[in-house]
Amino acid sequence: MTSVLEKPETHRILQPVELDLLRQTNGAAIEWFGRAATALYYAYKIAQRVVRSIDRESEVILPSISCATPANAALLAGVTPRFADVDPATGMPTLQTVQQRWNPNTCAVVFIHLFGQTADLRPLAEWCREKKILLIEDIAQALGARLPDGTSVGSVGDLSVYSFNPTKILECGGGALLIHSSELTSVSTEVSAAAPLPREITDADAMTLGLSYRNLHHSLVTLLRERAIHEVSSAFLKLQPAFRGLYLRGLKNPASLLNAWPRLQDVLRHRYVSAETYDASLSSGPWKRLNQWHESGVCWRYSLLVDFPDKLVRFSEAVRRDGFHVSNLYWPVNEFFRPSDECPNADSFARRIVNLWVDQTVDREWVERCAESVLRNAERLHPDSVTLEAF
Ligand SMILES: Cc1ncc(COP(=O)(O)O)c(C=O)c1O
Repeated sequence: MTSVLEKPETHRILQPVELDLLRQTNGAAIEWFGRAATALYYAYKIAQRVVRSIDRESEVILPSISCATPANAALLAGVTPRFADVDPATGMPTLQTVQQRWNPNTCAVVFIHLFGQTADLRPLAEWCREKKILLIEDIAQALGARLPDGTSVGSVGDLSVYSFNPTKILECGGGALLIHSSELTSVSTEVSAAAPLPREITDADAMTLGLSYRNLHHSLVTLLRERAIHEVSSAFLKLQPAFRGLYLRGLKNPASLLNAWPRLQDVLRHRYVSAETYDASLSSGPWKRLNQWHESGVCWRYSLLVDFPDKLVRFSEAVRRDGFHVSNLYWPVNEFFRPSDECPNADSFARRIVNLWVDQTVDREWVERCAESVLRNAERLHPDSVTLEAF
């Protein structure tokens, strides 16, 4: 396996991107992969090696509101995922909810900058240092965001994970692990030598398997959302090993990332302007707006927490029938991997969240019409809650 210092020829062309990221975050080194999932896998392996003996059981604390990839990658790395409840206003964990999950087996905490939101990470970083565990920032949805003190996301964690895959801020393919110190860079080199990337499944097989995973996940979420069943983890964990081949991938097309990189500021501006357009139309209604993108500068999707959880599915379907994309991300991940890590705030967040599109596929007119559809359908399903002036 190549060390960080001797990159494969193909990765050397990413030097301009590396220099930008290292400068913004004061980082020491970057490893390139095909997915953030792979970067997370190596981040866990590093944490396991640096914090604990690799022969002892290790745990990582993850937020309960997230896609399931960080937890799937943890199982693959041989680390047990544990889940912290979230702040009901942001969907992100707090220092207190993370502390509740700590035990002597904990080797790392992953902080996910959900939907482009950030938080003051200094108290969490300080606590992680006291406990001698690693802080991993997951920036998949927050590329280019600012922390509340104006510094860059990725500048606080010991390790930071990036994704450039579809649905992220730049969709050119790839993932990265940014390493903050030279000590951890040496550990990373040892880890890569001990656990090189295995032979990969083909792109076609990965696509088929990915679709199967997605369908399984959707089916189980629907059962939980409709309260048709209360426990899915035993079934899910039995099937989960079948999807292992999805998570460990090498970087295929560094030139695509190099070419996309100069567009980042334009992409962020387009997203921000789309969010402002929603914000102007949706200022009053039966919801709370997640508005942290104002400060972070990054909106991954424009998100509302609606006041009608029991009608969320009907509402989302109605907006989709009007021709607009809507998602309801995420279902609490603890329900799949460890329901005994109870996360009541995450359950309530998941029953209220609506995400609207702000990416390059939508323009101002689309956003305005989508906002009208949101208002119209909220009024229809939840009369008396939308004032007429809102139209
Ligand atoms: C917060 C977060 N982390 C990690 C990932 C995984 O990214 P990738 O598809 O590059 O493995 C995702 C993707 O959905 C994500 O949203």
